[in-house]
Amino acid sequence: MKTFREDFLWGGATAANQYEGAWDVDGKGASVSDMCTNGSHTVPKRVTTAIEEGTLYPSHEATDFYHHYKEDIALFAEMGFKTFRMSINWTRIFPTGMEEKPLEAGLQFYDNVFDECLKYGIEPLVTISHYELPYALVEKYNGWEGRECIQYYLNYCETIFNRYKNKVKYWLTFNEINAGTMAFGNVLSTGTIQGYSGPITEVPDSVQARYQALHHMFVASAKAVKMGHEINSDFKIGCMIAFMTSYPYTCNPTDMLEVQRAMRDSNWYCSDVQVRGAYPAFAERFWEENNISLKMEDGDLEVLKEGTVDYYTFSYYMSNCVTLDPGAEQTEGNLLGGVKNPYLKASDWGWQIDPQGLHYTLNEIYGRYNIPLMVVENGLGAVDKLEEDGTVNDDYRINYFRDHIKEMEEAVKDGVDLMGYTPWGCIDLVSASTGEMAKRYGFIYVDKYDDGTGDLSRRKKKSFDWYKKVISSNGKNL
Ligand code: BG6
Repeated sequence: MKTFREDFLWGGATAANQYEGAWDVDGKGASVSDMCTNGSHTVPKRVTTAIEEGTLYPSHEATDFYHHYKEDIALFAEMGFKTFRMSINWTRIFPTGMEEKPLEAGLQFYDNVFDECLKYGIEPLVTISHYELPYALVEKYNGWEGRECIQYYLNYCETIFNRYKNKVKYWLTFNEINAGTMAFGNVLSTGTIQGYSGPITEVPDSVQARYQALHHMFVASAKAVKMGHEINSDFKIGCMIAFMTSYPYTCNPTDMLEVQRAMRDSNWYCSDVQVRGAYPAFAERFWEENNISLKMEDGDLEVLKEGTVDYYTFSYYMSNCVTLDPGAEQTEGNLLGGVKNPYLKASDWGWQIDPQGLHYTLNEIYGRYNIPLMVVENGLGAVDKLEEDGTVNDDYRINYFRDHIKEMEEAVKDGVDLMGYTPWGCIDLVSASTGEMAKRYGFIYVDKYDDGTGDLSRRKKKSFDWYKKVISSNGKNL
C-alpha cells in the first residue's frame, strides 16, 4: 500500500503580513493588512483609511521575521523542514503597487531569506499575494475591481520571477482566492473597500464588485502562470483555495442539494477556473440569480485556458454542515461558518475539528482534478500557557496534527498524489481573522502579546520535538 512519497515536502506556512513586521522599513508601503487594527474573538478588528495615532496595528511589528529570519529558519531546519511556505510582501517591492521600478532593499531582503533557506536545503514555497494588496490600489481603483490591477500584479510577478528564478521553484498566485466569493474577502482579498473605515464585519458589500474583482484575479493568475513558465520552465505554479468542506445536516435531499450548492459556490467556482481553465457550467445561473454581470475583454477566456495551474493547494481547518432548516444551531469558522455538527468538537474559537474530513476532502479534490495536491495550511489556533520553566505543553496541538496526518495518509493509500504538508503558523504569528496574538498555531512560541508587548524571544513548544520526529520518520512516527 502507498504511503507518503520519499520527496514529501514537510514544512510549515506563514504570510508576510502576519509575520514579518517592519511594515514601513526601507520604503515599504502600506498594504490593506497594515490598515487593520487588532480585534478579538468577540470584537471585530477594524480597517481604517489612515493610520490612527495610538491605535495598535498588529501587522506593523507582527512577530518580526524581518529581523529574526536567520534564527527562525535555523529552527525550521532543526525540525527538518523540507519546505517553508512564506509570502512576499508586494508593498516591500512596489510600495503603492504602481511604481515602474522595484525597491532594491525589498528584493535584497527576500534574497537573504531564500539564501538562508537554501543553505539548509529548505525549498521556499512562495505565495505571491497573501492578503497584502497595496492599499494605494484600494484608494485608486477599489482594489481588484479595477482591471488596472492585472498589469500591476504582472509587473510585480515579472520582477520576482526573474529575480528569484534560480532560488524559488514553487509558487502560488493568490492565497485563498475563493475568499473573494465571501463578504469577508472584501478586506482580505479583493480589496473592494474604497473609502471604508470600520469593523471588517460591516463592510458594505457589492457582490457585483467582488465577482468582477475575482474575474480580474483569475486573468492575472492565468497570465502569471504563463509568464512564469516562460521565465523558467521548471517553475511549479499552483492555486490556493480555502477549502470549505460541507456535509448535509440531514438526509433530506434538499440538504444534499444545498451541500452541492455550497461546495460549488465556495470551492469549485474558483478552482474550476484555475485548474480547468474555464468557468464551470453552473456559473451562468449563479451570475443571473445574483445579478452579476461580468465585464470581460476579448481574449480573457483564452487567457484562462492558457494559464492553468500545475498543482492544487488548499487550507483545511474544519468542516461544517449545511441545511435549509432555519432552526439549526450555527457554528463559527475559517471565513465561513455554517451549521454545527453534533459529532464534532470545536476549537476555542469555535472551528469544528474534523480530521476525517481532510481524508474525504483530499479524495474529493483529487477525484475532480487529478493533479498533485498539497495541504498548505492546517492547524489548531489555541491559547498556549507558558509555564514558569519556559515550556509550553501543547499536547492538544500534537493530538490535532497526529489525527490529521493519519487521515492524510489514508487519502494517500486511496491513491491521492499528495506532494506535501505545511501546517499553518509554524511559528506564532498574528491571526488573520481577529488580529490577535492569543490565538497561537506555532511549534515555536514567540514572546508577543495582544497589547503589543513582548520581547519577541523564541521558545520551542512540546510540539516542536514531536513534529521533528514526524518529519524524520516521513510521517511514520506519530
Ligand atoms: C487562513 C489564512 O484562512 O487561515 C491565514 O490563509 C490565516 O492567513 C489562517 O491566518 C488561520 O486563520 P486565523 O484567523 O486563525 O489566523
